[in-house]
Amino acid sequence: MADANIDQRPEAATAPGEAELAEAGLRLDVDGAVATVTLDRPERRNAMTFATWRGLAAIGRSLPADVRVVVLRGAGPSFSAGIDLSMFSGGGEGFSDGADAEATDRFIAELQEGYTWLRRPEIVTVAAVQGHAIGGGFQLALACDIRVAADDAKFCMKEPALGLVPDLTGTKPLVEIVGVPRALELCLTARTVLADEAARLGLAEIVVPRDDLDKAVSDLVTALLAVDGGAAAATKRLLWQAPQNTLEEQCAAERTEQIGRLRALFGSRTS
Ligand code: CAA
Repeated sequence: MADANIDQRPEAATAPGEAELAEAGLRLDVDGAVATVTLDRPERRNAMTFATWRGLAAIGRSLPADVRVVVLRGAGPSFSAGIDLSMFSGGGEGFSDGADAEATDRFIAELQEGYTWLRRPEIVTVAAVQGHAIGGGFQLALACDIRVAADDAKFCMKEPALGLVPDLTGTKPLVEIVGVPRALELCLTARTVLADEAARLGLAEIVVPRDDLDKAVSDLVTALLAVDGGAAAATKRLLWQAPQNTLEEQCAAERTEQIGRLRALFGSRTS
C-alpha cells in the first residue's frame, strides 16, 4: 500500500530537446502546472514510431515537479493512427522476430514506459481525442486517466487484425472500463467504436462537438487544478487500487491516505 506521506515523483531527468522531440513526432509545452504533449505528425495522422514511444517515456521522466495535469492531444484531423505502418515494410526490418525472448521483452518494456507514467498519482492525465484513435493511439488514450472525445472520435483496437496483440499497456484499462466480454468483442473484431458508443461504454468521459474540444479540455483542466494537489494525488492512488483491493484492504488504504491528508492539513497544530 502506498504511504501517503511519500512523494512518489522520481527526480526529474533532463527534458528531451525540441529537435529530439520533433524527430519523435512530438511537441511538449509546459505552462506552469499544465503540460501539453502533442502528437505532431498530422500528415501521417500522428502515426507513432519506436522514437515516439521512447520520446513519451523521456517526457514522463523529465516532467517538472510542479506539473499537475498532463494533456495528450493530436495535431490535425486524428488523435493517432497507431503504429507507423511503414515500419512493417521491407519485411519488418527493425522488428524483433521474438527469437531472443528476453531481449524482446526488454525492448517492449522500454516502449511501454512511454505509457505507464501517465498513471502516476501526482499528475492527472487527460486525452483529447478527435478523429481516429487506432491501435497504439487507442492504447495511449486508454493510458490516460480521463478521455475527452470530439463527436467525430473513432476508437479501434486494430492489433489482432494485424496478427499482433495490444501490448502498449492497453489491455488492462480496456478491461477495467468495459469488462472482459466487451473487450474481447472489440479487440477480436477490431471494429470501430464511434463517439456516442464510446461514451456509453465509458471509453470517453466527456463527448463534445469537434469545435468545442479545446474548450472542454481547458474547462476540465481548470476544474482539476482547483482541487488541492495533495488530495488529488491521494485520491488517484486510492481509486486506481480500489478494483484490485478487497473491501478490507481498501478501507485500510482510505485510512492511511486520510491520516496523510490530516497531517498535511492540520499537522502544524501539534508541532
Ligand atoms: N502509418 C503510416 N502512415 C499512415 C498511417 C499509419 N498508421 N495512417 C495514416 N498514414 C498516412 C497515410 O498513408 C497517408 O499518407 P499519404 O498522404 O502519403 O498517402 C496520410 O497518413 C493520410 O492518411 P489517409 O489519407 O488514409 O487519411 P484518412 O483521414 O482518410 O484516414 C486513417 C485516416 C483511417 C487513420 C487511415 O489512414 C488508416 O486506416 N491508417 C492506418 C491505421 C492502422 O492500421 N494503424 C495500425 C494500428 S495497429 C497498432 O498501432 C499496433 C501497435 O501499436 C503495436
